[in-house]
Amino acid sequence: MQAYAGPSSEHAQQLSELGQSDLRRGLILRVNGEELRVLVTGGAGYVGAVLIPQLLARGYRVRVLDLYLYGREVFGELQGDPNLEEVVGDIRDAAAVQKAVEDVDVVLHLACISNDPSFELNPDLGKSINFDAFAPLVAASKAAGASRFIFVSSSSVYGVSDAPHVTEEEPLNPLTDYSKYKAMCEPILLEQQSPDFTTLVIRPATVCGYSPRQRLDLTMNILTTHAHERGKITVFGGKQLRPHIHLRDLCRFYCELIEMDAEKIAGKIFNAGYQNNPVSELAEIARSVVEQKLGKPVGIETTPTNDPRSYHISSEKIQEELGLCPELKIEDAVAELVDALEEGKIPNALEDDRYYNVRLMKRISLR
Ligand SMILES: NC(=O)c1ccc[n+]([C@@H]2O[C@H](COP(=O)([O-])OP(=O)(O)OC[C@H]3O[C@@H](n4cnc5c(N)ncnc54)[C@H](O)[C@@H]3O)[C@@H](O)[C@H]2O)c1
Repeated sequence: MQAYAGPSSEHAQQLSELGQSDLRRGLILRVNGEELRVLVTGGAGYVGAVLIPQLLARGYRVRVLDLYLYGREVFGELQGDPNLEEVVGDIRDAAAVQKAVEDVDVVLHLACISNDPSFELNPDLGKSINFDAFAPLVAASKAAGASRFIFVSSSSVYGVSDAPHVTEEEPLNPLTDYSKYKAMCEPILLEQQSPDFTTLVIRPATVCGYSPRQRLDLTMNILTTHAHERGKITVFGGKQLRPHIHLRDLCRFYCELIEMDAEKIAGKIFNAGYQNNPVSELAEIARSVVEQKLGKPVGIETTPTNDPRSYHISSEKIQEELGLCPELKIEDAVAELVDALEEGKIPNALEDDRYYNVRLMKRISLR
């Protein structure tokens, strides 16, 4: 299979004429006369549930390899789309991986035990998925002829930093096993960089916003849910900085990175964030949006915390080198979440374990 080096100039021209927000089904990227094929591991998660429709809308053929830990009904009416292949499988299963990487051009790796508390429930399980399965997945992708592999790491790899702008050059100081294994995977991928195999690491900030596979265990999403459901937010500490990015902006970045000229991204690492606010300000944003939209008062209570994690990431590199600029703010994510809660799209928001990774992981006792 010929290496995919980014969109042809004709296609790039079509993309820019259409504009990023106006992509339509029917615009098909082609490699050797065929649609671009993308494998998304963990594509049935919070991020994947918004990303996969965007990829399909761009005309890709998409394969999802996922255990569907948080439910099977993620893609709604797209289920059954001829360009979407859903594979229920485990990235630790060599045979499943072998099959999943067959005939794909690009691999986007999201599958993961994706937060600290879930990881700590069973550290051996977390390591087996987040670290042990990684090198074999990269090797299988490369051997099968994929020409691009994008690894979604995390900005938590920096740990606590006093640096005013934490750039990609900052030394890593992961404070938890989840972050440590993210950091350890990065060089394993980048060592495999070659002209035929473009490697790229993205370190996203905490994501916020509505997804059909909703997570309410993420900072801004929790604050919004508590403001809406309880009329009260409890802030632990409050001074800690938390960088955020809107879910749809991040998914747009992933789509653009799939298409980006190889020489701009090969072997590189980019942070992906937007606003960096102290948790106390995040709570104020949740309060003011909920009060404005619903006209009911929201209280904020502050209690001490022993969680020191505070970090502030710089996303200048991805904006300056690749032109990827966020367009949506935290306020937009909060407003959309409030609408989704009001419309009944997130029923039993405080009670249902599906929205809280650690609660669901406790219930299913995955091995
Ligand atoms: N959400 C955030 O704020 C955020 C921030 C930074 C980085 N990330 C990273 O982005 C990626 C996606 O995050 P998310 O919020 O969508 O998480 P998520 O937990 O919603 O999704 C992870 C998906 O991986 C699947 N999965 C888990 N173990 C698997 C296995 N062994 N084999 C196959 N599939 C498996 C799960 O079923 C789930 O659908 C993760 O790698 C996460 O670390 C997320």
